[in-house]
Amino acid sequence: MNFTGAHILSIQQFDRGDIQRIFAVADSMEPYALRHKVTRVLEGAILGNMFFEPSTRTRVSFGSAFNLLGGNVRETTGFESTSITKGESLFDTARVLSGYSDVICMRHPHSGSVAEFAEGSRVPVINGGDGANEHPTQALLDLYTIRKELHSQGRGIDGLRIAMIGDLKHGRTVHSLCKLLCVFDKIQLTLVSPKELAMPDYIIESLREAGHQVTITDQLTSSISHVDIAYSTRIQEERFASKEEADLYRGRFRLNQTIYTEFCEPNTVIMHPLPRDSRPEANELDNDLNANPNLAIFRQTDNGVLVRMALFALVLDVADQVDKYSRDVNWYNSLRSK
Ligand code: CP
Repeated sequence: MNFTGAHILSIQQFDRGDIQRIFAVADSMEPYALRHKVTRVLEGAILGNMFFEPSTRTRVSFGSAFNLLGGNVRETTGFESTSITKGESLFDTARVLSGYSDVICMRHPHSGSVAEFAEGSRVPVINGGDGANEHPTQALLDLYTIRKELHSQGRGIDGLRIAMIGDLKHGRTVHSLCKLLCVFDKIQLTLVSPKELAMPDYIIESLREAGHQVTITDQLTSSISHVDIAYSTRIQEERFASKEEADLYRGRFRLNQTIYTEFCEPNTVIMHPLPRDSRPEANELDNDLNANPNLAIFRQTDNGVLVRMALFALVLDVADQVDKYSRDVNWYNSLRSK
């Protein structure tokens, strides 16, 4: 695809070559993310960061990524701080805000809303999560993490064995990740959920059409015993009609160190898009896994900055100029020593 000026709305926009390009640019961003160097390549550019649903890592890492490239960030959080509450349409909002920004990142509770917003925007729009539909940048950072984790084991993405666990009906991260895996070969997926929270049929069909082997189950321990990646997800309470309904499923699939030791292969990598729900009634990934070197959840969040920097650099067409506008850093930063 031609990245310059493009909206990033769905993971299905990308072919294998596009993904390789994003990952190569993400690799090149490491000296900047680790503060070995700073760049001013986006000096003067403005990111409109619009989040109409709660977010910690997507919102802040989009902002940090833009700042690390030298740009400025204007942020809107919650509907109540905008004139959407006065009845203004997404189209009009996009038309207005795109006059104040060079690129806009947006999260919204409704499926398709970011694409609707993009129709009114005069600048590129990046989907930070639209309802239960998609979270394309999360899928990219997840796959970037999988690639790095497997590379350290001398493996590639083709032939991957992955279990996705939890609320697969409402989890937009697993929807996007499944769609992304469709461009790779010979993937073995085990989809672990209560039957009421199963992966949507259309996604399972596309996985099978891509030639992948898909197993559907509600049993955790047998599913994680022969996989490279155990990808856990939270029960997406905000997508249920009531908290009581979500409570029916919370805590159904819990992974802790004892279960990991008994059932997983020694190199199985544990992933989660985060936030993990650490309340006792949920606790899908126990804190006792924090000392497990195969717990990749915080490597995922770090990788999110690299991938989002890469997307900004590609969409704003500066990927080849980042080093030209760089210099060494002169302040103490503990990331540098890592
Ligand atoms: N993974 C993710 O989207 O996290 P946030 O909701 O905190 O952005």
